[in-house]
Amino acid sequence: MINEDDIRRVRDATDIVAFIGERIVLKQRGREFWGCCPFHNEKTPSFKVDPASQFYHCFGCGEGGDVFKFLMKTENVDFPDAVRTLAQRANIEISGEGDDAPRGRKARLLAVCEETATFYHQQLMRVKGAGPDAARGYLAKRSMGGAVAREWRLGFAPGSAQLVRHLQQKGFTREELIEANVALLSEGAQRSLRDRFFNRIIFPISDLQGRTIAFGGRVIGTGEPKYLNSSDTPLFHKRDNLYAIDRAKARITAGGSAVVVEGYTDVIAMHAAGFANTVATLGTALTPQHLKLLARFTPRVVLLFDGDEAGQRAADRAAELIGVAASPEVGRKADLFVAMLPAGLDPADFCEKQGAEAMREVLDSAVPLLRFALDRRLATWDLTRPEQRAHALDDVVPLLVPVKGTLLAADYLNYLADVFAVDYPVVAAALEKAKPLPTYRAASAEVGGGGGAGSGAGAAAEQPLPLEAADPVLDKTVAFERELLFLFIEHPGVRARLREAFGRITWGDERHGTLAQALLELDAPGVGGEVAGAKAGGAEAEGAAGAQAGDSAASGAPHTFIPPDELLSRLTARVPQAAELLSGVRLSQFEGVPPNRMAGMLMFTIREGQLKQAIRNGNARLRRLPESAAEERDELFRHIAELQQELTELRKRYRVE
Ligand code: UTP
Ligand code: MN
Repeated sequence: MINEDDIRRVRDATDIVAFIGERIVLKQRGREFWGCCPFHNEKTPSFKVDPASQFYHCFGCGEGGDVFKFLMKTENVDFPDAVRTLAQRANIEISGEGDDAPRGRKARLLAVCEETATFYHQQLMRVKGAGPDAARGYLAKRSMGGAVAREWRLGFAPGSAQLVRHLQQKGFTREELIEANVALLSEGAQRSLRDRFFNRIIFPISDLQGRTIAFGGRVIGTGEPKYLNSSDTPLFHKRDNLYAIDRAKARITAGGSAVVVEGYTDVIAMHAAGFANTVATLGTALTPQHLKLLARFTPRVVLLFDGDEAGQRAADRAAELIGVAASPEVGRKADLFVAMLPAGLDPADFCEKQGAEAMREVLDSAVPLLRFALDRRLATWDLTRPEQRAHALDDVVPLLVPVKGTLLAADYLNYLADVFAVDYPVVAAALEKAKPLPTYRAASAEVGGGGGAGSGAGAAAEQPLPLEAADPVLDKTVAFERELLFLFIEHPGVRARLREAFGRITWGDERHGTLAQALLELDAPGVGGEVAGAKAGGAEAEGAAGAQAGDSAASGAPHTFIPPDELLSRLTARVPQAAELLSGVRLSQFEGVPPNRMAGMLMFTIREGQLKQAIRNGNARLRRLPESAAEERDELFRHIAELQQELTELRKRYRVE
């Protein structure tokens, strides 16, 4: 039983529009928000969310209720669980919970993580063998071996269920291993447990008290995905946690500022260079919870953006952080500053190449977030051209809405008046009629999700966002495309199935399309010819034989499957990039999964990634279309809703989420 008071507190702390808006596309019409109903199939929005009453209602199917009901319905949980989920989201502690039983469970999970960290560390420091040797060599090369590895308790994950066996010997249960997210159930019929991390360098993630609660795993050298992090568990929520906060907090308080970077390696390099007040987000954009946590130690938070493309995109999104910083949870307790590194360098590179002195200068040159965001937007306009000036003012002024009425806003209005060489009342009037930047959106989007890339791109507003390969999510999708191509080569048994799929896939990387085409031609029925798959036999024989029969019936010629290594060399002869593109591919994450199922999973993941990306791009465009372009907005809105629908269908078919 959760008491009424707590339920009320959770309800009060949760905005139904924000919550539902993170799940389906909502569009404001008057005071209300509308979208396509998640409870029945529809193309035109008849689902209403009312911020005043905090209720939703669908005029199509009659579903309706409050935010708890919504969560119960969409995530299939009971009322107490819905309250708990939302309490967690709002950082509200429910009385009577968190002690007794759950605390016992948490203690067990902490023990799992502690034992895991020790095991991985031992592997790295003590164990002989190709894996640990490679890990040590790699870390040493990057100045993270020896004492650094010890200081950060870095580890090596050997995989092959070695951790699982070790933890089970120590008396931990299967459920505990899974819940702590250090092991996964394999897909096979026997449902055996396998290690979550395999052949990776491990960065243990700690809570504020320094207790290990999660892990980040990096491939040794190059490979995809570069990092694999623990999913959220009862101990670990990436939206609340910052890497190295336990080590940095004292320095942050003492020195009066915190530095936030993106990567584990950046944190380690920064600490080594003397900036021990540095922490990192863990694969998400900075959240209000992160800021609230930092604000306990200092108001001054410096965001240090990488100088690479991802850093540029993060900088473009800086405007969104104005809202984050002004959110009630943070309560104006944090002052955000931004510093940017020169092109191509991340903090670790920069410390190494330019040294601590230069880094000190970069940090000292940090400018207030608002100033940074204004300048970045202004830079997208040519203010010498009259027709651009008017648009430019309308474009930048909404950035000041979150601080409207404050001295700060007045200061920046003065600044803008200067920039535009107009009188103060002109810019003040512009702010008066400015609408806030949209906030009901994936403010919770992960860094990995590109979170509506480029909302501050200003002048580039008209062009649809390109599918940039540097986007981490897309990177992943593109990596999966390579795995799919690789699967085609490696497992002749699934070629028949993939042959059909390759035609339908929209390849995120056009070179992959070229490779797919070449593979289809090389391995076409009747072409394969000379080598009858001696190597391709065995486990794959069944699928291969079936497809063979079908194909040869159609072509009249017997179709013999080209064995993997032969196919790869013919492919490379034809498309020279093949070697470079496919050499890093490993299907290791699929250990023990039958090839057919692998194919299904990959195709699902690729399509899902593309849809998510397309939805984000659509939303980003929607935000940048002026209100006046009503038709275009409507069309785009419908388009996004359709994509959303396809995504829902797709997930339903694969029964995820
Ligand atoms: P980076 O790609 O900048 O990696 O990602 P890095 O930290 O600089 O690592 P090195 O120096 O190349 O080894 C920054 C952060 O983004 C998250 C990780 O938290 C990483 O530290 N990330 C990145 C992921 O979660 N998954 C990925 O595949 C890549
Ligand atoms: Mn980096």
